[in-house]
Amino acid sequence: MDWGLKNRLNRIIRPGDGRTVMLAVDHGYFMGPTSGLDDFRKTINPLLPYADTVMLTRGALRNYIPPDCETPVVLRVSGGTSILSKELLREGSIVTMEDALRLNVAGVAFSILVGADFERDTLLEFTRWCDDCQKYGVPMVAVTAVGKEMVRDEKYMSLASRIAAELGAHIVKTYFVDGFERLVEKVPVPVVIAGGKKLPEPEALRMTAQALHAGAVGVDMGRNIFQAEDPVSMIKAVRAVVHEKHTPEEAFKLYNELRKKGH
Ligand code: R5P
Repeated sequence: MDWGLKNRLNRIIRPGDGRTVMLAVDHGYFMGPTSGLDDFRKTINPLLPYADTVMLTRGALRNYIPPDCETPVVLRVSGGTSILSKELLREGSIVTMEDALRLNVAGVAFSILVGADFERDTLLEFTRWCDDCQKYGVPMVAVTAVGKEMVRDEKYMSLASRIAAELGAHIVKTYFVDGFERLVEKVPVPVVIAGGKKLPEPEALRMTAQALHAGAVGVDMGRNIFQAEDPVSMIKAVRAVVHEKHTPEEAFKLYNELRKKGH
């Protein structure tokens, strides 16, 4: 593997333990104002020192993140539709590789929608990005989006994740489902889980631990961190599960202790 690609991958997945806590704060690209991200600087910037990498749009990066930020950036490069659209997940490119490189990214993220009428559009545009990623040494994080009409089970998530890896993804981001260990077995690149809708904190920590146990290398988590009652304590608790092998119960205890003393 090319040195640049390896170097950037090591900025996303920590070489020490091979795990990662990616902080996903890109929701505005299709949701616009999002609870927890409205006052982005106030909520998100204090989380950055505890994130191994932050995933966001170029607009959020330029407007909210100071250039002396040391947290590596994974840039969202697909989008172009909104929650008001009938074809919400029919995404195309929303940035060029040239701009991504100018922004000094550690990686890029592209959502694919397998099984939709328009799957060919997203898969071919994704593949075009994978070519650029190889050319410039930039890791591709494939996000397996799920349409409302699709069943969120191991069979579907494995199908989408394996296709993403076969087409050129370096990391696959997918949803945690029952039988996740079978998905991980079938996907030849590191797998991270999205958090999904906000859960009670103990459940989000349990899901994180279960995903790691099943072979995920970490999380690319958003709402379950930044919509937590205390986001800084929550990201520290998630880190404790991912990097320090805390059980979910130990991590929730830590969360409560940190909350009480103001992190
Ligand atoms: C969705 O496509 C976006 O990439 C989100 O960043 C992603 O779903 C992760 O965020 P959450 O943990 O809130 O689901």
